[in-house]
Amino acid sequence: MRIVVIGSGYVGLVSATCFAEMGHHVVCVDRDAERIARLRDGEVPIHEPGLEPLLLRNHQQGRLHFAQTLRPVLTNIDLCFIAVGTPSAPDGSADTSQVLAVAEELGRWLPQRCVVVNKSTAPVGTAERIERTIARGLTQREAGFTVPVVSNPEFLREGCAVEDFMRPDRVIIGCADDQARQTMEALYAPFLRKQPRLMVMGRREAEMSKYAANAMLATRISFMNEMASLCEQLGVDIEKVRLGVGSDSRIGYDFLYAGCGYGGSCFPKDVRALIHTAQRHGLPSHILQAVEERNTIQKAGLFVKLQQQLGALDGRTIAVWGLAFKPGTDDVREAPALQLIASLLEAGAVVQAHDPVATASVLRCVPAHWLTSGQLVLHAQDPYAVLDDADALVIPTEWKPFRQPDWQRVRGLLRQPVVIDGRNLYDPAQMQALGFHYSSFGRPSVTAGDMQRQAA
Ligand SMILES: NC(=O)c1ccc[n+]([C@@H]2O[C@H](COP(=O)([O-])OP(=O)(O)OC[C@H]3O[C@@H](n4cnc5c(N)ncnc54)[C@H](O)[C@@H]3O)[C@@H](O)[C@H]2O)c1
Repeated sequence: MRIVVIGSGYVGLVSATCFAEMGHHVVCVDRDAERIARLRDGEVPIHEPGLEPLLLRNHQQGRLHFAQTLRPVLTNIDLCFIAVGTPSAPDGSADTSQVLAVAEELGRWLPQRCVVVNKSTAPVGTAERIERTIARGLTQREAGFTVPVVSNPEFLREGCAVEDFMRPDRVIIGCADDQARQTMEALYAPFLRKQPRLMVMGRREAEMSKYAANAMLATRISFMNEMASLCEQLGVDIEKVRLGVGSDSRIGYDFLYAGCGYGGSCFPKDVRALIHTAQRHGLPSHILQAVEERNTIQKAGLFVKLQQQLGALDGRTIAVWGLAFKPGTDDVREAPALQLIASLLEAGAVVQAHDPVATASVLRCVPAHWLTSGQLVLHAQDPYAVLDDADALVIPTEWKPFRQPDWQRVRGLLRQPVVIDGRNLYDPAQMQALGFHYSSFGRPSVTAGDMQRQAA
């Protein structure tokens, strides 16, 4: 098939590459000229494990192309995917303006019928709005054909997006047109060879399924964080409780980790959008509001725990390991680490931060004066370089190399042996034995004997 994918971000680029890998002819379009130029030069603009070799191979073999302008690539296509951003508007609703702008363009330029597929996460009714918007454009220029719009929400996880796309848990097709359904079934068949996991439903049900799934996952995290906070008061270890709870086959272990809260480009905005939808329909959303409030408290938790350990933070130097909202990605949207850094800088601290892949993303999104003033120093290469003369180490992201660090070296470099663990990576008793003052989430904080710098 001939496919156009509009938007070359985490979803668009992965989808386009995986479709090309299955033998289709794919053009990935983005209005960001620099991004397209980099892609044409063989440079992958996002960090996603396994994406680069797949993308380069398909580009070199002529199945995957990149374009900045939509109109010239629309001729003779079978499918057109929309994978642009749907960020939070100031009132919490999903801002669908990028999606609808694409629909306007399609109405204006599509030279023939094709199936338009919305992959962007967008509120119930958006596929119908896209269809109406395109139809208006087609009628105005008396095009003489109609265009069906399918909702195909994306469930890939950043950090394992290629794997998820190639072997999805399920593919949801929200569809009101039989021919479009057949095209979608044919497209996804190679991804579902092992087990048929394609679900066809109405477009509104498909759109709602995506929001409900993200809201459920966010709820599990906030629920465990609330349990963790209670555990801290009761002197109970949440990690033991997690095992006790997760072993129930009705519950399972996934998304039950306590920590410094969820971030990223999906959960926070999608929970807010669902709350907004409920409000617009005059319905209370007690659970979702509590999920969000708990997460706000949780994200502030790193700063609070630092204050508990160090008192005033003015003039302190704090080392941070991990800036991405989770390991495996360079995405820092709504990352707990960024909120922590903002609070620390406001309190007058200096931050020395390391992340193996996300420092470039941080450079692009933080105020320039954070860096020019020397208040924020970033190191991409060496996690130990940020520890020198720091008063504490904080870990907001559980990258694998942080799991078993050289604690003797860490202790030798830190001015004070204080570790705040946002992801419950270490055993409190072991940390105490190593001489650290150690705080995590939902487990008792432990205190070592002295607060003096000790040589390794
Ligand atoms: N990132 C994820 O893990 C994930 C997972 C599932 C669903 N989603 C949803 O998928 C959608 C895309 O997410 P993302 O993370 O890939 O976004 P992203 O911000 O990484 O990428 C979006 C891209 O679209 C481009 N764009 C915007 N308007 C355009 C236009 N008119 N023409 C061409 N390009 C245009 C932007 O320049 C940008 O590069 C969102 O609705 C998101 O909620 C994301």
